[in-house]
Amino acid sequence: MANRVFIAGNWKMNTTLDEARALAKDVVEAVGSVGDVDVAVCPPYTNLQAVAEVIKDSNVKLGAQDVHWEEKGAFTGKVSCAMLKSVGVTYVIIGHSEQRSYFNETDETVNKKTKAVLASGLLPIVCVGETLEERKSGSMDAVIEKQVKGAFGGISAEDASKCTVAYEPVWAIGTGETATPQQANEAHIFIRKIISELFGKETADTIRIQYGGSMKPGNAKSLLEESDVDGGLIGGAALKASDFAGIVKPK
Ligand code: PGA
Repeated sequence: MANRVFIAGNWKMNTTLDEARALAKDVVEAVGSVGDVDVAVCPPYTNLQAVAEVIKDSNVKLGAQDVHWEEKGAFTGKVSCAMLKSVGVTYVIIGHSEQRSYFNETDETVNKKTKAVLASGLLPIVCVGETLEERKSGSMDAVIEKQVKGAFGGISAEDASKCTVAYEPVWAIGTGETATPQQANEAHIFIRKIISELFGKETADTIRIQYGGSMKPGNAKSLLEESDVDGGLIGGAALKASDFAGIVKPK
């Protein structure tokens, strides 16, 4: 593990305003002064501003779960990069598998969002990952390669190095089934190889690759010990501050 660890909590469609404030407060108490790990929480849009207020004097950064690529206008239901920036967001999750499978996210829209986020000065967390069928049928590498190349098309090496990639095997998300550290590391090495082909070795070595999919205190350490796992994108376990802290500071 060569790069600085980055742990982000994806709260998904959970937390009302009061719940979000309370969870953010607990997260700050548990990990707000951690110095050697980058930490972010990604609440729903409606709670971004309130959570920004709670975390403002801590080392915890704010992330959003999605964004629209257009700057403004008649896009009912959507939120722009400038809007996210204005409430204190630093990171934006793009291309989560739930977006891809339920809300028509494609490699093309992932690319548009990644470009828009970079242009605005925010930092993308680009999610990729195969389904169980794809893994079993042997098309996993092709699927991941297409997603990575799709996301990063037309982006400079300098901009790519500002991104985080989250490898999230769909079969491990919210299922309790985790990729073994070896499975995760193999996928991360493969992703780094594609990044290297696109942008060169330096970018490939320094871009951070998070693992996501049922990561929890009990398996975080063994995953993070792998050579190419630089952090985690945490769903379920991010909803309880003590579990989240157990991943940020794994024993
Ligand atoms: P999980 O979700 O930790 O609940 O599996 C991870 C994610 O979807 O980012």
